[in-house]
Amino acid sequence: MGNVLKEYLQDPFLHRLYSDIRKVGSIKAISVDITHDCNLRCLGCYFFAENMDKNKTPPDEAEFDVFVEREKARGTNFITVIGGEPSLMLDRLEKLYDNFWIVTVTNGLRKIPYKGFENMSIAVSVWGDHETDKKLRGGGKVDVFAEGLKNYKNDPRVGWYYTTTSGHAHEVESVVEQCIENGNHVLFTFYGDISQTGGDVDHHRGFGQVCHEINRMIERYPDRILMTSYMNKVISTGKLYDEKWGYDVCSSITFDNEMNRERVKNGKPYNPHFRAYNPDLKTTRRCCVGEVRDCSNCFDVWAHYSWIMMSMKRHLGSKREFTNWLTTVYLFYMTNWIIDFKEASKLLPEIHKRVSYLREEFL
Ligand SMILES: C[S@@+](CC[C@H](N)C(=O)[O-])C[C@H]1O[C@@H](n2cnc3c(N)ncnc32)[C@H](O)[C@@H]1O
Ligand code: SF4
Ligand code: SF4
Repeated sequence: MGNVLKEYLQDPFLHRLYSDIRKVGSIKAISVDITHDCNLRCLGCYFFAENMDKNKTPPDEAEFDVFVEREKARGTNFITVIGGEPSLMLDRLEKLYDNFWIVTVTNGLRKIPYKGFENMSIAVSVWGDHETDKKLRGGGKVDVFAEGLKNYKNDPRVGWYYTTTSGHAHEVESVVEQCIENGNHVLFTFYGDISQTGGDVDHHRGFGQVCHEINRMIERYPDRILMTSYMNKVISTGKLYDEKWGYDVCSSITFDNEMNRERVKNGKPYNPHFRAYNPDLKTTRRCCVGEVRDCSNCFDVWAHYSWIMMSMKRHLGSKREFTNWLTTVYLFYMTNWIIDFKEASKLLPEIHKRVSYLREEFL
């Protein structure tokens, strides 16, 4: 492994990416539901679909502080803050921000102030263009996307976290244009049709058009899209070398949760630090996005990041494969502001250029 890696790293660009991420040291990640509460009820939200809000947030501030100290002592250094809606708990959010690298995922309705959160990565969720987003997220009434655009105009911390649905590929361009005109970046994930609504939100109908559009957006805005064509391919095909995506290979699981006792014994990599904490901050769940949920409807981008990150060795067969791995992993560090976002994002056009061959089959 040493020699091939050395050979690939003779390329100064790859060397730069690799040394940037290695300098950081190991990432000890967890996910935390900072609150059980939310100001929306989106269609098929995994959190409410499995009643995860039943584990109530502790009202006592001291209990939250104990949690922070315990995680620090355990070595945690990176937290994906979710819920519920994190913007409803700004004081606690600030405590996490002060102690860890964090990415906060928010619905965008309530602005997270700049002061106190200057270098925090914020992923603002959007599920489609105004009408679709209003229908799926705003109960047919609230234009959630419009509120988010207003709240985060020219905010450099923001990457729009665009959950795509299979029958709405024609909206991708317009959504991306609006986010970019708003002065923000864009990343993608894919809707999991947990409530079996079917039809135009179900990705079992295929990813073709959506992937085509994402790749077109990478070509059009290479300096703004925080997702590689390799990630796009892995999620849409559900394949990584000889492995097929699913529970048996997913490494985004709580390592010491009883539900995963057999999984951690199956020989596939898992993260021996990761825990997905429920809002009570005491109990954990099977994985970041599910308790007993059927994994065949999970296309979660963070879980796929973990799958790819843990399989560097498999990507050493050629420089091209290693480039797929490295550029994708680099985007994880960049998107979460674990490395200097401003500096790293200057490399985006070259990152996308390096894997342009993957887009040829789509475009
Ligand atoms: C549960 S939410 C919590 C954070 C915040 N309330 C929000 O909506 O951004 C975390 C992320 O999961 C996404 N999400 C929820 N249900 C989903 C589903 N069924 N399929 C794909 N993504 C989903 C949301 O869009 C959001 O980006
Ligand atoms: S805003 Fe987030 S937590 Fe609330 S219902 Fe929508 S996806 Fe779920
Ligand atoms: S729902 Fe997704 S993240 Fe959770 S165990 Fe299944 S595949 Fe992994």
